[in-house]
Amino acid sequence: MISACRRHFSLQAMKSIPTTTILGHEYEIDSMTNITPAIASRLHCKLLSQPNSPLALLWRRIQRHFDSRHPRVFDFLRHDDPIVTAKQNFDELLIPASHPSRSPNDSYYLNRKTMLRTHMTAHEREVMATGRKSFLLVGDVYRRDQIDCSHMPVFHQLEGVCIFSPDELLSREAEYSHLVGVIEKAIGSQVLQVEHDPKIVKLALADLYVTLHGLMKALFGDASRIRWQETFFPFTQPSTEAEVFYDNRWLEVFGSGILQQQVLHPSVLERDPNAIAWAFGMGLERVAMVLHGISDIRLFWSQDDRFTSQFSSQKEDTVPIKFVPFSKYPPICRDISFYLPTTSDFQPNELYEIIREIAPDLVEAVTLTDEYHDVKINRASMCYRIVYRSMERTLTDNLINKLQSELRERVARQLQVTLR
Ligand code: PHE
Repeated sequence: MISACRRHFSLQAMKSIPTTTILGHEYEIDSMTNITPAIASRLHCKLLSQPNSPLALLWRRIQRHFDSRHPRVFDFLRHDDPIVTAKQNFDELLIPASHPSRSPNDSYYLNRKTMLRTHMTAHEREVMATGRKSFLLVGDVYRRDQIDCSHMPVFHQLEGVCIFSPDELLSREAEYSHLVGVIEKAIGSQVLQVEHDPKIVKLALADLYVTLHGLMKALFGDASRIRWQETFFPFTQPSTEAEVFYDNRWLEVFGSGILQQQVLHPSVLERDPNAIAWAFGMGLERVAMVLHGISDIRLFWSQDDRFTSQFSSQKEDTVPIKFVPFSKYPPICRDISFYLPTTSDFQPNELYEIIREIAPDLVEAVTLTDEYHDVKINRASMCYRIVYRSMERTLTDNLINKLQSELRERVARQLQVTLR
């Protein structure tokens, strides 16, 4: 996979360590390196700074809400460099060594120490270190994932953090007293952190609830219903998930909770040993898709005027414009079937990655249509259906035949499978 990246040798070190250059920096390549040129090319496309992108619009709408409707002052930050250390993305957030998200099957590594952030939580501590107490942070995050209309290996997240002293929370006790029932239900059977006074935790959660409820109403309308469920994140305890009822279904919108004390930057606890913080994360594409009726996540990346121009008249304080699909071009389906080697731990993400390399933005979905064990040869056989469809033009059979044969060749070589 790395062979396609720009590789050269670091003369400075006078050693033959292969390196790759990404965003102007040189990184040593090692056995964890799995960033592909297709992914590297996304690092330059700053959708959040394109004024008519629905993601930028959503971010502005969120800022406006916090500026005008939230009692506390929040700092708004956009972090455009997605390269972080594995320490920032995982270790400092107490994500265990065995957690699947650490595997190169799920995340993009430049090398074993450096990676593309998988969530904006990776930057919380460095922002806390600047002394900020309430902030919202947005940026692009990267995960290896399936291919369908709501998943791309890159998407955008909003992260929110608020740090309190117990006294600040106690001064709101009366204001939040009606929320006791909801908060207890959200905590459910979760154990609280030993450092925390349960009363303070509940007040902090009530503040989180009020904040998220306000944001949800600003985005989805005053009548929106929200429900909280208990969940688990290694860096929060208790952890809760907020869902909103929209278009007749419950949509999971926020992951949130009370940050683990160990996750707080040491300078926060130096200033106030009793400080407590809530945090939440929200995916921007998912919200923008339902608000504007955008049916395919690939559209956010489209530079086609028929997409971008539809959002140019959107004002932040008005109802979100409904996207009018500009004709759906016909799909072309192709199957690829293969026998796995006898000793293989086949990872579908590897296949998706090859597909993304060969046909960036031209594949709408990949589904496993058949899987069986051939007893005669004692090998598993898989068949995947690939739906090719462009958002912007009609694809020709000629092009797809070329892409499909390149795909077959790469799959056979890289995954060491036997094509059928
Ligand atoms: N980082 C989490 C995710 O990406 C979301 C989250 C943020 C959860 C902050 C709790 C607190 O899923």
